[in-house]
Amino acid sequence: MAQIATSAHITYAGWRDLRDLAAIQRASFRRDLAYKWWMLAFFWLMPGITFLVTRDGDRATGSIIADVDRGRLRIMNIAVHPDYRQQGIGTELMNAVLDKYPQLSAVLMVQEHNTAAQSMYARMGFVRTGTMDSYYGTGNTGIEMTLKRS
Ligand SMILES: CC(C)(COP(=O)(O)OP(=O)(O)OC[C@H]1O[C@@H](n2cnc3c(N)ncnc32)[C@H](O)[C@@H]1OP(=O)(O)O)[C@@H](O)C(=O)NCCC(=O)NCCS
Repeated sequence: MAQIATSAHITYAGWRDLRDLAAIQRASFRRDLAYKWWMLAFFWLMPGITFLVTRDGDRATGSIIADVDRGRLRIMNIAVHPDYRQQGIGTELMNAVLDKYPQLSAVLMVQEHNTAAQSMYARMGFVRTGTMDSYYGTGNTGIEMTLKRS
């Protein structure tokens, strides 16, 4: 398994983390957008997916799911437990996957109103590269953000 060059409390997600992570999804996203336990299990089992987790003791506090799509690192999902936000965990998770693929540019989608996430991405060097109307359902625009590296 590839090394993750980051602080000790980030590791690859384990099967036992999935219950905590499904709860974080429910606390973080609109009901229809939150990944259910079985969806997380699917990502966990799929080859080619990087699925990292942060923990506080035995409790999972955040996760990031990414893959490589058409030569770019695609950030599919990132979420931090509400009790653990604004402590640098989201940034650490993102840096961990970026460090795993240092040669690749990265791309993600974010809801137009999600200014907290957009602010984190902008702080890390992501720039807005597109919009998709109703990407998150009728009237909910998706913003594409890209971190160019090469
Ligand atoms: C987006 C998210 C992952 C950020 O995680 P986090 O651990 O709180 O982020 P960090 O502590 O690393 O914050 C880094 C930067 O993000 C921005 N940020 C984070 N939370 C913010 C908030 N509530 N309001 C404004 N800016 C915020 C700030 O620029 C912050 O830098 P600063 O601390 O120097 O001000 C977290 O808020 C979350 O899980 N949100 C719900 C799920 C979600 O929206 N995921 C993204 C979907 S695209």
